[in-house]
Amino acid sequence: MPAPTDRVTALNSESWTGRVTRAEIDLDAIAFNVRSLCSLLSGAELMAVVKGNAYGHGAVAVARTALDHGATRLGVYTMGEGVELRQAGIHCPVLVFGPFQRDEARDACLYDLTPTISSIAAGEMLQQHEINRPIRFHVKIDTGLHRSGIPPTEAADLLRGLQQFPALQREGLYTHFACADEPERDCTSAQLALFLRTARELEAAGFSFPLKHAANSASTLSRPDTHLNLVRTGISLYGYNPSSAMPPTAPLQPALSLRSQVARVHAIPAGAGVGYGYAFIAERPTCIALAPAGYGDGLPRTLGNGHGRVLVHGMQAPIVGRVSMDQITVDVTDIENVVEGDDVVLIGAQGETFQDATRLAAQAGTINYDILTGLLPRLPRRYVGDPRLVKRATGVAQSDQAFPSAPAFHRETRTK
Ligand SMILES: Cc1ncc(COP(=O)(O)O)c(C=O)c1O
Repeated sequence: MPAPTDRVTALNSESWTGRVTRAEIDLDAIAFNVRSLCSLLSGAELMAVVKGNAYGHGAVAVARTALDHGATRLGVYTMGEGVELRQAGIHCPVLVFGPFQRDEARDACLYDLTPTISSIAAGEMLQQHEINRPIRFHVKIDTGLHRSGIPPTEAADLLRGLQQFPALQREGLYTHFACADEPERDCTSAQLALFLRTARELEAAGFSFPLKHAANSASTLSRPDTHLNLVRTGISLYGYNPSSAMPPTAPLQPALSLRSQVARVHAIPAGAGVGYGYAFIAERPTCIALAPAGYGDGLPRTLGNGHGRVLVHGMQAPIVGRVSMDQITVDVTDIENVVEGDDVVLIGAQGETFQDATRLAAQAGTINYDILTGLLPRLPRRYVGDPRLVKRATGVAQSDQAFPSAPAFHRETRTK
């Protein structure tokens, strides 16, 4: 890791407003995680799953970083997510997991995206838009998750039917696990066995597949037998183990921190209510710090009423009252000398103290995937890391990389 002074920052210009509330994404951590995951593979390719705006981290910057450090392919859910990557000049194969409509079929052809096909009608839509270039496609087998894909028994008929469309080029067969993050359950083995049997039968019937894939982060980390010749990793790229039930098998570094600053500190007497509905009534003379972050930035409302905690001066402080669209109120009565401009950390490190997205998720009654992916566009993303890496990933020249280093809120008012 470069020394902190060697690290630069870049901002995504669309959403940068000079707000003190921002997500900071450490691209060195993304690069580290990709290398760490690749070291588990022997011969399999790594697909970086960057759907959901790269789980809230910013799809383009993460995709470029992942591709520079060992990933060879990208995975998204919608055709629009694939188009965003292409418009940013990313040329690698991009698999689209989700279903698509006619206009999206045109985008698949125009932008050379790789759709997942689950019906003859989908194949027909693609054929109509072909532009003298083979349209590579994958078929997803539903081996037991019972969401998308086709049953194993229908795969041969679908593949036979798709042969009528000359533009289509079969590239991959895949499945998705239901319980890979719960190693004590045996359904992953059953799903894998069914997938491999289906693939063998289809191959025996004359359908070949250059790529066969099944593994998400959980099984990439815990079951080499699921790696086949491609793994699709999402949450682990961002530095998280998919489940606390799984012992870490590869070192991972959380890449995103979520930071704000105290915008106001004020004392209220015992009996005073705070925020909408007076959901918090002070039981003692209380010091309330306001931070300008709310559900308009993606914070769950369930963090309110004492469930969620933030770090202030390296100590945990409860979010009291309701989370509103733009603000949270924090009880800092037990923390000395909190003043306007002090740093507030929702995810990340503050001094020796650290709170990750898994812990914040537990406080909100959800999972780390939901917290990270739920961060909304209003929240500026600021990229940090090795200067060359940040420049390559964001396209922002070092001279243009600016961030207000002085706190935006003045520090004079001491309330205690
Ligand atoms: C088809 C598919 N593959 C891979 C992944 C990545 O999963 P994870 O983030 O658990 O690695 C997802 C995410 O939900 C997915 O939908």
